Amino acid sequence: MPLDRKDLLDLDDFSSDEIMLLLETTSAMAEILSRPIRRVPTLRGKTIVNMFYEASTRTRSSFELAAKNLSADLVNVSASQSSVDKGESLIDTMRTLQALGADMIVMRHWEAGAPYLAASWLDAAIINAGDGWHAHPSQALLDLFTVQERIGTIAGLKIVIAGDILHSRVARSNLWGFGKLGAQVVLCGPPTLLPRGLAEIAETESRITISYDLDEAIVDADVVMMLRLQRERMASGLLPSTREYCARFGLSRERMRRARPHALIMHPGPMNQGVEITPELAYSEQAVIEEQVTNGVAVRMAIFYLLASTPERLA
Ligand code: CP
Repeated sequence: MPLDRKDLLDLDDFSSDEIMLLLETTSAMAEILSRPIRRVPTLRGKTIVNMFYEASTRTRSSFELAAKNLSADLVNVSASQSSVDKGESLIDTMRTLQALGADMIVMRHWEAGAPYLAASWLDAAIINAGDGWHAHPSQALLDLFTVQERIGTIAGLKIVIAGDILHSRVARSNLWGFGKLGAQVVLCGPPTLLPRGLAEIAETESRITISYDLDEAIVDADVVMMLRLQRERMASGLLPSTREYCARFGLSRERMRRARPHALIMHPGPMNQGVEITPELAYSEQAVIEEQVTNGVAVRMAIFYLLASTPERLA
């Protein structure tokens, strides 16, 4: 079954079948990555551009490796070292990359909605690699894949996402992804770091629960996903102090005992160790944080492959 979409912008309008297709294709890509020679010729002749307006380690590198593993030509552009620095507009930048031959553009931008604008202007596929506080669909897909691989299912699980939900595009995309595959998602953080209006949504959405108490939220969790305090996006006055935040919302060994015995500990990275998670737990047997990073390559190969195989692009 092809993925009949031009772009990957978020998971909000994806069906559960489409998400499962992405996860199944990721399994096939992971098999390729287990071979002694990891490169296949699938995207030979295709050009992919990584256009990053914000810093990244994991996402940018894994999209680059994914493109190379599929034999595509890959160009990396950082906004700070491009003509964006001279004032070139978003649309002119994107049209320039398309005019240079880009078939797909992976885009990270500080402004929510920027990839949607680009997608509406360009024929090239736009892949959202994170837009402001809004969405990070490839991260959510790698999180789903990691849980599916480890636990064998997603339906019926209790997933606790804790920390700075307000500024987290990862939380928003994961809410769609885990929710569509039948998990119960608990969003936990101080009231100042939970988006306004979330409590009203949770009242009508039975798969979403809001909690202001991590000790309570974590009970019987199958997965505990901790989020970083995104100080770079934060207005002042949202937190009394890091120390108090850490005491109430940091993940410690003692707190983790309330979850199921083999519950997974996840984090999209980068971590603030000693704030939202102790180093001891970050490198513990329950942590799958590096596995998430590893799975990111196969997930991004699956995204490239499926977007390059749409009926429109194969015609
Ligand atoms: N998880 C994530 O998006 O990490 P980077 O910012 O390093 O890409």
